[in-house]
Amino acid sequence: MMTDQPDYQPYLAGAFRWRLALRPLDLQHWIEFGHDYDHEMDAKTLLFAQHPATVNANIPGSEDEAGEVLENLVDFLISTRPDWFSREGNEIVNHHRHERLTVSPDSTGQWREHPLIICGRLIQEDLALLVERDGQLVFGAGSVAFPNRWDLTSKLGLTMSEVHAPVDRLNEQLQDPIDSFFGRLKPEKSFWRTGWGVLETDDLYQPVDGTAATSPGYPSVGDPTAGDRLFLRVERETIRRFPRTNCVLFTIRTYVRPLSHLVDRPNDAHRLADALANLPDDVRDYKRTTELTEAAVHWLQSVTS
Ligand code: HEM
Repeated sequence: MMTDQPDYQPYLAGAFRWRLALRPLDLQHWIEFGHDYDHEMDAKTLLFAQHPATVNANIPGSEDEAGEVLENLVDFLISTRPDWFSREGNEIVNHHRHERLTVSPDSTGQWREHPLIICGRLIQEDLALLVERDGQLVFGAGSVAFPNRWDLTSKLGLTMSEVHAPVDRLNEQLQDPIDSFFGRLKPEKSFWRTGWGVLETDDLYQPVDGTAATSPGYPSVGDPTAGDRLFLRVERETIRRFPRTNCVLFTIRTYVRPLSHLVDRPNDAHRLADALANLPDDVRDYKRTTELTEAAVHWLQSVTS
């Protein structure tokens, strides 16, 4: 099913704290297809070619786990989108894009391309794969074309709490709940959650290694065009464990809209203003919203019915 951009508005008014906020996932809705599928898949193709080391990275030996993910993704695509995808031998055919991708290793068991990259070539979602090493879940591979200002390569081999270490207050507030969640996570029951931020750009490609486009700069407080120059960036994330290799796949779908989409929605606009205003300074810095908060809050508070 193709959708217009879903209207996720996950920010909360009131005092700030990080939240687990995990909800059960109906696997029929594991992956979302948007009207912008072609646009984003074209962008991914370009980024995979131009910035391969920024957007795709993996630890040696993670092909087995990623292969299990790919198998499941192919099954999902041909059963939920038979109008676009079919399987022919060892290939998946994307009829919509007139593409064919090999989805199994060669006869010697070697993959020509890491199977998580192949997953990334099929769907708009970014992908992060946790694998079990020495009894611990660690970041094993990522295919992340649209990172929200974090660095993929430096996450390889890290545990969840190490991955989250740069996020101010997160481990303090959520390390134990996150660890016990992964300890209990079973293939039979998957989950989803959302995250949000406000950025001064709608460019999805926001790595921190210097390859992102230059920031367009910030509107000043009271600028009436701030609603078109600042953007709500929402991540819809799914978490699913796979039974053969016990790996966990984290999908991240990023939706970006100008704040002006709230121009007729004072309740949502004021709630977002309140959420932004309530971020503690360290979290505001982590979210890179310090320079834009005043202009954003001013514009959002000016929205009236
Ligand atoms: C229970 C599950 C999880 C929770 C509650 C959680 C929560 C969060 C939160 C609140 C942030 C800060 C983002 C923001 O809103 O500004 C974050 C960042 C991040 N998370 Fe998670 N997360 C979870 C699972 C995962 C998984 C499974 C992965 C990867 C496999 C992951 C990778 C990341 C990364 C890479 C960042 C950015 C860190 C940085 O800036 O260096 N998270 N997470």
